Amino acid sequence: MKNWFITGVSRGLGLAIAQAALAKGDRVVGTVRSEAPELDGAGENLVLLKVDMSDEQGVVSAVHEAFKVFGGIDVIVNNAGFGLLGAVEASSDEDVQRLFDVNVFTPIRIVRTALPYLRAQGRGHIMNITSIAGRAPGVGAAIYAATKFALEGFSASLAQEVESLGIRVTAVAPGQFRTDFLAEKSVRKSSAEVDYSPAVTAALAAMSELNHHQLGDPKLAAQAIVNTAHSANPPLHLLLGSDALQRARGKLAVLMKEMAAWEDVTVGTDFKD
Ligand SMILES: NC(=O)c1ccc[n+]([C@@H]2O[C@H](COP(=O)([O-])OP(=O)(O)OC[C@H]3O[C@@H](n4cnc5c(N)ncnc54)[C@H](OP(=O)(O)O)[C@@H]3O)[C@@H](O)[C@H]2O)c1
Repeated sequence: MKNWFITGVSRGLGLAIAQAALAKGDRVVGTVRSEAPELDGAGENLVLLKVDMSDEQGVVSAVHEAFKVFGGIDVIVNNAGFGLLGAVEASSDEDVQRLFDVNVFTPIRIVRTALPYLRAQGRGHIMNITSIAGRAPGVGAAIYAATKFALEGFSASLAQEVESLGIRVTAVAPGQFRTDFLAEKSVRKSSAEVDYSPAVTAALAAMSELNHHQLGDPKLAAQAIVNTAHSANPPLHLLLGSDALQRARGKLAVLMKEMAAWEDVTVGTDFKD
């Protein structure tokens, strides 16, 4: 049996992960910022903590509390987050700051607060929900992609730092999943009305069409995440969704081709002695 700390269990992927963990017989400490979600068969195995992910002190207190509730946490899931769509010039400092606060600085804060506990336990699994946008970004979501690339980079380096301590790290990169992610109550649009890129305009229209018609099933994603946490050798990088796989493969192929085409320039900068 594992004890989970999951941020953002009010709906979407976080709710599905909490539900799947409870169904497995695990215990969950989940965060919400307003309403409590409906969870089947939760009973004493579920404890909800109320905290907004942009409240620095509240987040730190929630992590300390989470480790007390069931006497330890085995799996931390940095899930709460949101998207920001629009042209780069259209995003204000405030838009960028708010997005990085919730999608990057808070997960890092949670990990820094949790690490002393995980080190003392000599075990733990940190799962950061990134995105395929953090590996193979599309157009119209540059700031969002930047946050998810940040979390990917953080995860990959952290994994090497804590491996000898018995702590595992997995960066989970979902493709398009059918949650509220693209719905108005979740996704933000950059504040200014700057419209210089037909590619951005087309991408935003396509994302609006895609809302609640995405290919990925959040319940199956949640099951995959719970199974990964229970597996003997969890991966550092986990893609979820066939669309994510296709985009990641395409990106790697382009990278390999470009690296080869520019190899002479790349290696030409070493000292000659
Ligand atoms: N769905 C996808 O296609 C997709 C793809 C790639 C990555 N992801 C990532 O998956 C994660 C979950 O997204 P989702 O698809 O489940 O979207 P969602 O249905 O919109 O759920 C987002 C969750 O994050 C919480 N949240 C957002 N901002 C918060 C804040 N400031 N403080 C506290 N909680 C906050 C929400 O809480 P409230 O209910 O209080 O708003 C909600 O629980 C995100 O990190 C997202 O970037 C999603």
